[in-house]
Amino acid sequence: MPMTASELMREAERARRRSYSPYSRFSVGAALLLGDGTVVHGTNIENASYGLSVCAERNAVWRAVGEGRRDFVAIAVTAREGHGAPPCGSCRQVLHEFAPNAWVYWRDARGRIIRRRLSALLPKAFGHRDLRKKK
Ligand code: THU
Repeated sequence: MPMTASELMREAERARRRSYSPYSRFSVGAALLLGDGTVVHGTNIENASYGLSVCAERNAVWRAVGEGRRDFVAIAVTAREGHGAPPCGSCRQVLHEFAPNAWVYWRDARGRIIRRRLSALLPKAFGHRDLRKKK
């Protein structure tokens, strides 16, 4: 049975519990759904050298790709209660590399799930095709 947006969001909530965010105190969780139904968790991991901190979404993408999985169907993102967390621009670009049309789910400040295609969140994206010379 395919996973619903709210089921995937529950997985993102589980991932968020493992956030390491002592500097921003803004915990984020991500759950990446793969083609066969596997869910890969990611959370934000910060560093005393602040600029080295990594977002939850990219953590999930790196984990999946590192395991040889690139067939992303959807990603759910959730943040500390009462806060919305649409994926940041860098994470949109990283997701676009592997799944330009994936579904992206996040919660608004009231907790409602917003659903958008990545292509709507990152229109006219730069991608591997742009690296090729036109003949
Ligand atoms: N953060 C994410 O994990 N994902 C986003 O899309 C936005 C921001 C994290 C990074 C940092 O640890 C904290 O939220 C505050 O910016």
